[in-house]
Amino acid sequence: MTDVFASYLERLSAEGNRRHIKSAAEARELWQLTDLASNDYLGLAHRHELVAEFLATATAEELQLTSSASRLLSLRQHSHQALEETLAALYGREVLLFNSGYHANVGTVSALAAMPRTLIIADRLVHASIIDGMVLSRADFRRFRHNDIESLRAVIRQNDDRYSRFVVIVESIYSMDGDVAPLAELAQLRRENPNMLLYVDEAHAFGVRGERGLGVCEELGIIDDVDVVIGTLGKAAASSGAFVATTPTLKEYLINAARSLIFSTALPPINCAWSRFIIERITAMSAERKRLARLSALLYEYCNPLNGGIESRSQIVPLVVGDARRVVAVSDALRQEGFVALPIRKPTVAAGTERIRFSLNASLPEEEVRRLISVLSHTEWS
Ligand SMILES: Cc1ncc(COP(=O)(O)O)c(C=O)c1O
Repeated sequence: MTDVFASYLERLSAEGNRRHIKSAAEARELWQLTDLASNDYLGLAHRHELVAEFLATATAEELQLTSSASRLLSLRQHSHQALEETLAALYGREVLLFNSGYHANVGTVSALAAMPRTLIIADRLVHASIIDGMVLSRADFRRFRHNDIESLRAVIRQNDDRYSRFVVIVESIYSMDGDVAPLAELAQLRRENPNMLLYVDEAHAFGVRGERGLGVCEELGIIDDVDVVIGTLGKAAASSGAFVATTPTLKEYLINAARSLIFSTALPPINCAWSRFIIERITAMSAERKRLARLSALLYEYCNPLNGGIESRSQIVPLVVGDARRVVAVSDALRQEGFVALPIRKPTVAAGTERIRFSLNASLPEEEVRRLISVLSHTEWS
């Protein structure tokens, strides 16, 4: 009965595309190396003094380990509400928590798509959680060419008479290319187009960009032009969970329509209390953000010319290798040199664009980034 699954796995092995989860021992061994793989962009995941301060100051209510029910039914709301209020004050918008970025996108995209005469239009490179939200909704959706406003305008023009509402979905920093969406132009397009809602996933920008770390929309001063901002807490914020910053009406609508919110146990209170503690510190981490930007520029200025048009402008820097087996070999070679950098293969990226994804963090010594560049310039990688 399970032959079909076994042969699928064999095919993945033959293509060099089979994945596995590291054992605890395997993972622990990598702790000695320089981490260029995790999304801990501000280097907060290892700041044990922050954890100690949090635990010493949190109240018993904040230290509860389970919500025991979904958000709509739970009797433990204190930490969730406090976190939502903190984020709401920062964004000047209503905020609703979700259990993860995956939950936030699947729930929000499918709920928005559920209204009649709505067309979802997403950038071709948006994250799997957005695609899954579109597919789950069973509603209509289109994709436009990556970061190409003219392609988006064309999709809107072609569909103008059939739909009353367009939900345009982009990421501010793309998770595999590290490039940045043309958000100022998108905000302008939304101002020109009363039927358009703008949805920006700031998963890789929250904590990292903007004066207080709220993301690229804050950096550009366009938060008020965006209808839905998604932020995730499992990356720069060294926690887990996610949030939607939006209008009062859309928040209420999501509470009533987002199935990933309604039908899943809410985040543990302790997790929300930790997120709030850390976010209050992140807002003041401009020095870390500047440092990360400097390290990132060093690496992308080396890698971008080698990447056939991919223009990273962030702490996510790909190095396109273009072959599943070779990219694994390059990752192994980097490991021998003391770097953990993961190979990214299909279906995460298109076949032929297999790459190493470097993910930098603010606690890296600059000499390590320079050593990486030196190692890359001596590595047979393509
Ligand atoms: C753009 C984007 N959105 C959402 C997510 C999912 O977030 P989470 O890991 O919190 O589920 C990711 C994860 O990498 C992502 O890259």
